[in-house]
Amino acid sequence: MKKKILLVGGGGREHALFKALKRSKNETEIWLYPGNIGMEKDGGKKIAEKINNWEELAEWALKNKIELTVVGPEIPLVEGIVDIFNEKKLVIFGPSKFAAQLEGSKKFSKELMKKYGIPTAKYECFSDKKSAQIYVERVGAPIVVKYSGLAAGKGVSVCETVGEAFKALGDIFDGNGFGDENCAVIEETMFGEESSVFVLTDGTNYKILPCAQDHKRIFDGDKGANTGGMGAYAPAPVADKKVIDEVEKTIIIPTLDAMKKEGGEYRGLLYVGIMVTENGVKVVEFNCRFGDPETQAVLPLVNCDWFDVFYAAAVGDVSKIEWEVSANFAAAVVLASKGYPKSSQKGIKILGLDEAQKIKNVDIYHAGTAIGENGEIVTDGGRVLSVTAWDETLKKAVERVYSAVDKISFDGMQYRKDIAKKGLLRLDGEA
Ligand code: AMP
Ligand code: GLY
Repeated sequence: MKKKILLVGGGGREHALFKALKRSKNETEIWLYPGNIGMEKDGGKKIAEKINNWEELAEWALKNKIELTVVGPEIPLVEGIVDIFNEKKLVIFGPSKFAAQLEGSKKFSKELMKKYGIPTAKYECFSDKKSAQIYVERVGAPIVVKYSGLAAGKGVSVCETVGEAFKALGDIFDGNGFGDENCAVIEETMFGEESSVFVLTDGTNYKILPCAQDHKRIFDGDKGANTGGMGAYAPAPVADKKVIDEVEKTIIIPTLDAMKKEGGEYRGLLYVGIMVTENGVKVVEFNCRFGDPETQAVLPLVNCDWFDVFYAAAVGDVSKIEWEVSANFAAAVVLASKGYPKSSQKGIKILGLDEAQKIKNVDIYHAGTAIGENGEIVTDGGRVLSVTAWDETLKKAVERVYSAVDKISFDGMQYRKDIAKKGLLRLDGEA
């Protein structure tokens, strides 16, 4: 019997989750809400009915005998999709609405970390602009200003001057585009190298995936505007065994315990964004879901049955699953359209996808793509595609991924040419 799965989301991360689920030993039938054309080409089925809210999606899942729902993006989780599905006794992978506050409210996550002694940047929360400004003037720059609620990666300003911090506070309190949680978190600036640690958990037991490193800026050398992420690689040498041991002891175990004590066990994927500083490892942020594009680099490195893994995290015990991490490295490069992250171009023909996919140990994931008037694949968003390759060394994985990227082209295509550079330098240094 085919396993019926519903996958929520439609970006490169979800395409990677889709391909991982397809590697299950069981035959699968994967339904997409909303999915993308890459997933459809790979056999996913787009839900035809119009769905207006998570209640209706849960009704649909019930009617269609879905055995497991996997949620990619944060918004459904923060809005409480898991609670809605659970009420109907549907199995769904992800944290509850309460637990998803770890990402949905920086105020919540910072207060939790303070209460339980989990290492993070010192901070203060403010609900009015005037007192926030007085605090910034007193502390001085550099200083970090964060909008407390969800802001699609745009709510954080690392400010070099007090003036910049005032501008960031204006964006939060003067209603220039953020939501209505009028609350700013102001933090000390941390210095060090970052890594994304993915923890798969049933609330008590957990598995740590190979740690990745994202590349948030649009241009090489970490220059230019912040983006959703322009590339990733794993395992990132900065997160060596010593660092991971410290993360387990000082962050993962205390956080899972704290969530239980606060009355909301955390099930699903806990994304711990860390900074490895001179004074130990500190939490930069928690997210309540897999990262994009880190997922595209991380999933090809784990040999397991992802259906079983997500199922166990949702309703079982992840310590009982079969789980093998390969000795390979993987690198993922995001291909973005002209103007990204400010704008994007739609309808531009993409060439070379089949050629690139022919290269061994390469996977291509769709995100902002569509079918054009003549049936060709065209651009349809900012982050258009991501390309992943894996190999036995990081250097080889990087060479392989760029050899695949070289086959793909579209007008205005932009991508970073230095993905994994920090990791390669670190490995060279050790050699
Ligand atoms: P966040 O959305 O909280 O992860 O922040 C986005 C990015 O801003 C992080 O990946 C860091 O590069 C940077 N950042 C956030 N908080 C701090 C901090 N306290 N010190 C230095 N950089 C930070
Ligand atoms: N790549 C960063 C994120 O997914 O939040």
